[in-house]
Amino acid sequence: MSGVWMRRVVLALAFACTHIVVLAIHLPVREFAGDGFFDHWDFYGNVDNTTWGNVTYVDEPTARAQQLIYTNGQGNVVMRVDNFTTLTPAQLVLRNSLRLTTKDRFQIGSLIIIDVVHMPYGCSVWPAFWTLGSPQDWPVGGEIDLIEGVNNMGFNQIAIHTTEGCYQTQIAEQTGVLLEGDCSNDRGCITRETKPNSFGAAFAQAGGGVWALQIAESGIYAWFWSRPDIPENIRNATPQTPIDTIPWGFPTAAYPNTRCNINQFFSPQHLVLLTTLCGAWAGEPSVYASTCQTPTNSCFADNILGNGANYLNAFWEIRYIRIYLSEDAPPPPPPTSATPTPTPTQTPPATTTDPRQLPPPSTSSGSAVGLQWDNSWANMKFSGILGLLGTIFML
Ligand SMILES: *[C@@H]1O[C@H](CO)[C@@H](O)[C@H](O)[C@H]1NC(C)=O
Ligand SMILES: *[C@@H]1O[C@H](CO)[C@@H](O)[C@H](O)[C@H]1NC(C)=O
Ligand SMILES: *[C@@H]1O[C@H](CO)[C@@H](O)[C@H](O)[C@H]1NC(C)=O
Repeated sequence: MSGVWMRRVVLALAFACTHIVVLAIHLPVREFAGDGFFDHWDFYGNVDNTTWGNVTYVDEPTARAQQLIYTNGQGNVVMRVDNFTTLTPAQLVLRNSLRLTTKDRFQIGSLIIIDVVHMPYGCSVWPAFWTLGSPQDWPVGGEIDLIEGVNNMGFNQIAIHTTEGCYQTQIAEQTGVLLEGDCSNDRGCITRETKPNSFGAAFAQAGGGVWALQIAESGIYAWFWSRPDIPENIRNATPQTPIDTIPWGFPTAAYPNTRCNINQFFSPQHLVLLTTLCGAWAGEPSVYASTCQTPTNSCFADNILGNGANYLNAFWEIRYIRIYLSEDAPPPPPPTSATPTPTPTQTPPATTTDPRQLPPPSTSSGSAVGLQWDNSWANMKFSGILGLLGTIFML
């Protein structure tokens, strides 16, 4: 082998290496799973005053007392709608549900992977898993809807919301279908999933699936796989495994920065997980009628009222949410410590609650706890690069 050729190979490898490391390798920074899942989220504790569903998003003590949240026998997190209270007609009727927001925000450079076994579905049901830059100043800071749909829709929709100046075009590099291209309009710019079993009953019957959301300076990218199609590097990953996005191929939705300046329109994002009922989308009469035929064609009267038995399937069952950070991103800030969760019977009257007097957070094992932040971040970075070099040299 000539020296020139050798040098070319080495240069090519070096280029491939930096290129892949910068764009594709993501290191684990956080897992939300199991008993510790709810420790790092804020509970909305108010009626749905953003999408006008007929729900009260309860606080944590109420959610625990009514068993709207718990960990099931498989170790998965369950979050459900009240399906046991009988509601009768009145001036204002609201059913109990949940809206959770992470205390922490996740910066550009993050990769979010969520493994869902079951999502809420049925007439009037509107589940969503999304990210939000600024709760006070929407849509400044951006919004990314990764999982969202209503009623008996057969497919998931992905959307982003921004202030004016961010667009999406139908490009060959996404498998989904573009429905709306201006991200500043009311509905955002929307891509519809084309893979089967991405929403509702069919999603659950297939055993659920996984979504991945990459928020990078180069663009925002969202992938979906039904349970049988989950890529090997996700199926085999532990919470400590770095993740490479290259083997995944084209995403469902791509928002490259050529039409939307990600740094300009997106600030670090909170994660939001919720289920609402009826409201501005699911309860809109023509939307409701398009997939639900019920006795009076009223989202409210045919669903919210009554004993709630129709909400048997209005629950999330989640194996984990994992957060990763791109190799080239600055190190993450330490996680916000969990607010101690008093059990309902121990809840002191609000007037005497002094947060400083509450016990320190319990050290729950593994879940929703930052993987040692300080020097292990550097170590993981180093071993990630070594692993990659190893792979390249084996080729
Ligand atoms: C919803 O209600 C809460 C509590 O009153 C309030 O803090 C919040 O600003 C309201 N949000 C909107 C969008 O009106
Ligand atoms: C359903 O909820 C909306 C939004 O809060 C409210 O305006 C409406 O009055 C509710 N309907 C009933 C019958 O309570
Ligand atoms: C409510 O739904 C759960 C599943 O989420 C089910 O196990 C339970 O039996 C239901 N309760 C009623 C009263 O229908």
